[in-house]
Amino acid sequence: MILEGKRLLITGVITKDSIAFHVAQRAQREGATVLLTSFGRIRRMTERAAAKLPEAVEVLELDVNNEGDLEALTGELRERWGRVDGVLHAIAYAPEDALGGRFMTAPAQSAAQAFQTSAFSLKALAAATAPLMASGSSIVGLDFDASVAWPIYDWMGVAKAALESVSRYLARDLGPFGIRVNLVSAGPLGTVAARGIPGFQQLADAWRLQAPLGWDTSDCAPVADAACFLLSDYARAISGEILHVDGGFHAIGAAPLVAT
Ligand SMILES: NC(=O)c1ccc[n+]([C@@H]2O[C@H](COP(=O)([O-])OP(=O)(O)OC[C@H]3O[C@@H](n4cnc5c(N)ncnc54)[C@H](O)[C@@H]3O)[C@@H](O)[C@H]2O)c1
Repeated sequence: MILEGKRLLITGVITKDSIAFHVAQRAQREGATVLLTSFGRIRRMTERAAAKLPEAVEVLELDVNNEGDLEALTGELRERWGRVDGVLHAIAYAPEDALGGRFMTAPAQSAAQAFQTSAFSLKALAAATAPLMASGSSIVGLDFDASVAWPIYDWMGVAKAALESVSRYLARDLGPFGIRVNLVSAGPLGTVAARGIPGFQQLADAWRLQAPLGWDTSDCAPVADAACFLLSDYARAISGEILHVDGGFHAIGAAPLVAT
């Protein structure tokens, strides 16, 4: 069991389709003790999903944009565990007018909101948990390849580019403490967040055609397994990395021609 004895904080579970739910499930099976976070009105949904995990878990309050919640989180974790071995950042949000083909008309405020919740939040979460982390600890975030522009993804894509950069700066600043920071760049998965992006199906179809290994948008397990690997000691010399778990899509320039 690659996560035996590890204490992991997992954000971003809203339903049992959430990528973070699959990470929590896999992590428990690999021997980890897990705490989840959620906030406000969706907390009940998180608690319902949490009840479906192999072992009971508690849900701590965390709106990642709320300074008070971040401070309270550090205190809670210190009291409950004293140390944290790993953190999963599975948080993203962009207002509707910043997505779905509205790149040119989105107001600055919406772009800034996407940036704060989806990219700056990795720094915020790291700052709240790093004081409790010993050398060998690991922070993992979830990315959608931001090295190119995509249809419909718009300011969420820009926020992901920022997330990639934030993870490298965190790797720089936390590396001297032995804390690793990495991202898993996932192919499209049919979660609540993804289905909320108008035109999600377009991306899913592109993946089915172009990924050399094929891609199942309903299977979060490969992404969860990779996140667990990065949270484990097997990845002890890996930091500042973006691990693509996308069926090989990123390595291929164009979909093969299909005979008509
Ligand atoms: N689904 C995909 O196709 C896909 C692909 C690549 C990367 N990702 C990334 O995976 C991560 C998880 O998304 P998902 O697809 O599992 O969707 P999801 O909707 O299940 O999870 C998104 C989570 O973000 C949380 N969140 C939003 N605002 C927050 C805030 N202010 N404070 C705390 N939490 C907040 C929500 O509560 C929710 O749990 C995101 O970073 C997403 O961009 C998703």
